[in-house]
Amino acid sequence: MVDVLLGLQWGDEGKGKVVDFLAPRYDIIARFQGGPNAGHTLYLHDHKVVLHTIPSGVFHQGIMNVIGNGVVIDPVSFEVECKEIEALGVDLVSNMLISERAHLIIPTHKALDKASELAKGQNKIGSTLKGIGPTYMDKIGRNGLRVGDIIRSDFKEKYEQLKAKHLSLLGDVVPLEEIQAWETQFFNSLQNLKKYTFIAAEYWLNDQLLQGKKILAEGAQGTMLDIDFGTYPYVTSSNTVTAGLCTGLGIAPKWIQKVYGISKAYCTRVGSGPFPTELLNAEGDKLRTLGNEFGSTTGRPRRCGWIDVVALRYACMINGVTDLIITKADVLDDMPEVSVGVSYTVNGVTSQEFPFDVQEKTVMVNYTTFPVWNKKLSDCHSVEDLPDAFHTLVKLVEENTGVPVSFVSNGVGRDQLIVFN
Ligand code: IMP
Repeated sequence: MVDVLLGLQWGDEGKGKVVDFLAPRYDIIARFQGGPNAGHTLYLHDHKVVLHTIPSGVFHQGIMNVIGNGVVIDPVSFEVECKEIEALGVDLVSNMLISERAHLIIPTHKALDKASELAKGQNKIGSTLKGIGPTYMDKIGRNGLRVGDIIRSDFKEKYEQLKAKHLSLLGDVVPLEEIQAWETQFFNSLQNLKKYTFIAAEYWLNDQLLQGKKILAEGAQGTMLDIDFGTYPYVTSSNTVTAGLCTGLGIAPKWIQKVYGISKAYCTRVGSGPFPTELLNAEGDKLRTLGNEFGSTTGRPRRCGWIDVVALRYACMINGVTDLIITKADVLDDMPEVSVGVSYTVNGVTSQEFPFDVQEKTVMVNYTTFPVWNKKLSDCHSVEDLPDAFHTLVKLVEENTGVPVSFVSNGVGRDQLIVFN
């Protein structure tokens, strides 16, 4: 069987820690979409590690980590990441398999990302500039290069063709010297990529399923950044939702069992785009400081606001969430009160539906507000320890989404996770 774990907001929900906690229950951890735009933070013996392309099971012995066909790989940043993890004593060569169908991010993809954002000016997406959008564009446009191509004799030729196409689009927006410097790094880093085993991951994974092995599919970004269901065009270029695991790994829906959906106890967003419950005031600044809300991939300050159960309800529906996980609950300890966005009023009509054109409409969010608990959540060890006001928050989320809460994360420590039911 396969379970999936994914973000229900705009990314950065704390997926890394939860995958790390759940990993011992599985034989395989597999990434199915995204690429180095992701940043999954884990702590190994108090040492902070941020994973971008590598699955979060690498620190557990006996677990195989798979990078699926739906992922896009930048060999340059991948090499940096591999070296950092190998320096911690992890034998990545025997713990990680890469789908030969995963697409490659080449230097001109990054240049195109930069050019596209420059051209959009004020309307820029706020991309991480890792080349994600242009790489998925080439995949869909049937021009991309795949991991399996790098060992073929015509790789250089295919690369040059794609590069020429990109250069004709780029004009002189990104200096040629900059692209050439990236290119040298790119070709050097292919030697590192070739150290790992490339496989027909769809066959390998299905074979493991038939043998009764358990797979955890690890999502990246979040549902509200999904290319189809997110706040388009301010989204990433892949399907971040449950359905993405089928196309990103080659696993049929019949194998899917649990869908773990992760949400912070509040909400953040990095980059541009609609964010109905955003706090553009001192309260938002306070949440940013308390939650240390700065991007793990780009270092950018994250926009902060209250938890939005309208968006959560939508995300639970699209993903078929069976188990909710609330993270960073302890961050709210020092806020005077907590608000939960429970419905929207658009043009005088109140509803719990997430609108198609949320960015153009004036959405008024209706909140339920209550005083915060006067107990440190990080000192709680069981459901019974949790204060009543926190249970009010859990109940509001459960009632509005129709999904039970299974875990609450109340600190960065590996053991700071309270198990419900
Ligand atoms: P891209 O995927 O780098 O093109 O960025 C598109 C949008 O998704 C931007 O708003 C990014 O900030 C956001 N984004 C991409 N990856 C992540 C992530 O892992 N966490 C949070 N936001 C992300």
